[in-house]
Amino acid sequence: MSDAGMVHPITVTINGERYARTVQARKLLVHFIRDELALKGTHIGCDTGNCGACSIIVNGKLIKSCMMLAVQADGATIETIEGLEAEGELTPVQRAFHEHHGLQCGYCTPGMVMSATYLLRGNPDPSEEEIRRAIRGNICRCTGYVNIVRSVKAAAGAGEPAAADRAEASR
Ligand code: FES
Ligand code: FES
Repeated sequence: MSDAGMVHPITVTINGERYARTVQARKLLVHFIRDELALKGTHIGCDTGNCGACSIIVNGKLIKSCMMLAVQADGATIETIEGLEAEGELTPVQRAFHEHHGLQCGYCTPGMVMSATYLLRGNPDPSEEEIRRAIRGNICRCTGYVNIVRSVKAAAGAGEPAAADRAEASR
């Protein structure tokens, strides 16, 4: 029997909750999270590491969860989009995406928010160039990059106000 057909026990902590499961050796982490744990906020756009829709934080590092096997995550501490808000309160990044129209269809949004969250943890006041570099692994098919960058800036407290805010301020 090839190893791909074997199952392995793994234990992961996701958004503060511990899960012990057995998984096939070939199961991708993104499929494990979505299909076995029903955490559907992590999206799949390509399955080949190109789009960033599946971005999550594993042991403090931003990764694309379609590029990692579930067995490789054994013992890991994982954060997904579902774990960001606390007691119904959105994080500043989530709020900023909402307030500054950082999403259109929303498909890329969980990955964008995870990438932005990771960026701001390490660099609380990034330049526009740093923001663009941080999200270069995330593709927005709606091409809403201007508002996405604006949202991240706003979340960092360094953002230019959105157009509506500017209009309000100039009254
Ligand atoms: S689904 Fe993982 S990078 Fe596209
Ligand atoms: S908002 Fe539609 S893919 Fe980004």
